[in-house]
Amino acid sequence: MTHLLDCTVLSNAEVAPEHRRMILRGEAIARDTQPGQFCMLESNPGLIPFLRRPMSIERSEEDRFSVLYKIVGEGTRLLSKIQPGDTVNVQGPLGKGFPIQPGYERHILVGGGIGIAPLPGLAEALIRQNIATPEVLLAARSRDMLLCEEDFKSLGCSVLLTTDDGSAGMKAFAADALREMKPHEKTVVYVCGPMIMMATVHRLCMETGSLCLASLEAHMACGDSVCMGCVVETTFEEEFRRMVRVCHDGPVFDSRHINWNAGAPVS
Ligand SMILES: Cc1cc2nc3c(=O)[nH]c(=O)nc-3n(C[C@H](O)[C@H](O)[C@H](O)COP(=O)(O)OP(=O)(O)OC[C@H]3O[C@@H](n4cnc5c(N)ncnc54)[C@H](O)[C@@H]3O)c2cc1C
Ligand code: FES
Repeated sequence: MTHLLDCTVLSNAEVAPEHRRMILRGEAIARDTQPGQFCMLESNPGLIPFLRRPMSIERSEEDRFSVLYKIVGEGTRLLSKIQPGDTVNVQGPLGKGFPIQPGYERHILVGGGIGIAPLPGLAEALIRQNIATPEVLLAARSRDMLLCEEDFKSLGCSVLLTTDDGSAGMKAFAADALREMKPHEKTVVYVCGPMIMMATVHRLCMETGSLCLASLEAHMACGDSVCMGCVVETTFEEEFRRMVRVCHDGPVFDSRHINWNAGAPVS
């Protein structure tokens, strides 16, 4: 069930250069969130910016939930100025999260840059439901952009790091590092990050017979299935189901259902 709540900000702290974690008190949203769902945050109570900003819900427990965000433009810059004690209007939880897959031997979480945001909550859910302690692959451009390493380690997850410039972990792209982890038919890979990274992870999973569940990003206006601003092309045969709405049908999809050659909705 989706709620519209004025949430009190409990903290809004820097976790890496240009990256912050905001913890908000909002009991109904925290209670009803499933891993992989998102919310729409009002970054400013006035008319500018007019649209809410979509953010994955990183974790939720008891009366609170968190979002992990990267400052990229006006909306996220305004979010970064919010102080503990301030109020943010939030709509959520929205969308369909990660379907938990109990029948698999290995569960690998792959997060690229800020794409890691929905994965800590998923790791907690897999552990809490006694399904698995997932293996985690964190990919980023450089060491200072690697997020949540300690959070996953404190949950008992094994964490493999990979950076484009080799400043931490392997010097490789995410799909190359994932190949080294030898995923197989009884592996489920949960991935979130830039479209190009998810497309290469999807292709590797097709090669190895692994199931790949991808959390997509798209530009969103309404966040709630009305505006059609977030559609992506699928591989479905039927013409009437050629496009899906990331906000309503996703953001998490079986990667086989997405046409990765159609061009990224956002890069
Ligand atoms: C379902 C979903 C979950 C998301 N979760 C997170 C999250 O957990 N943490 C996080 O930091 N970001 C997340 N995003 C992306 C986030 O919504 C955008 O970065 C944010 O809306 C940008 O707002 P802005 O006003 O700061 O930037 P704008 O001024 O609107 O744009 C600045 C730059 O960011 C790009 N941009 C804008 N919107 C998006 C988008 N949706 N995806 C990618 N690039 C975008 C623009 O093309 C432009 O280059 C998510 C997006 C979706 C759709
Ligand atoms: S954002 Fe409006 S339909 Fe998805």
